[in-house]
Amino acid sequence: DQTELMSLTNKSTHTVAVDAFRWSWAFNYKEEGAYDIGTPDAKPTLWLPINERTRFELTSPDVDHSFWIPDFLFKMDVIPGRTNKFELTPDKLGTFPGRCAELCGVDHSAMLFDVKVVTRAEYDAHIQELKDTGQAGLFDTGRSSSKAGVTA
Ligand code: CUA
Repeated sequence: DQTELMSLTNKSTHTVAVDAFRWSWAFNYKEEGAYDIGTPDAKPTLWLPINERTRFELTSPDVDHSFWIPDFLFKMDVIPGRTNKFELTPDKLGTFPGRCAELCGVDHSAMLFDVKVVTRAEYDAHIQELKDTGQAGLFDTGRSSSKAGVTA
């Protein structure tokens, strides 16, 4: 039921802070200290290690969005001024499409991303790649409005 679906544990091995903004996504791998960010023309990819519990923290710096991964049978609203959280454990390797499910403006339909569920080794290699290309640290559009590169 919903209570069980929405329950948070202390068992998540890592946390992804998802910033939904007009009109793309930033994915911050909090424990690992790396991030990725997309644009309406270049959708970003969220990488997840298989069989590891991940906590998602959803924030928006501008308007209501909705974080939706149809294959995971889950979506959650992303609301300015609050942090919505949920956890899941991906158990199938592959690439799955994700999108914004809340009408949020002119490029709403371009607010796409992919989810890539990989082995732990591939995940670690990808995090290292992000760091090597300068995407170390966190890119919090909602919590740090002074960051450059994102226009609402
Ligand atoms: Cu964000 Cu639609």
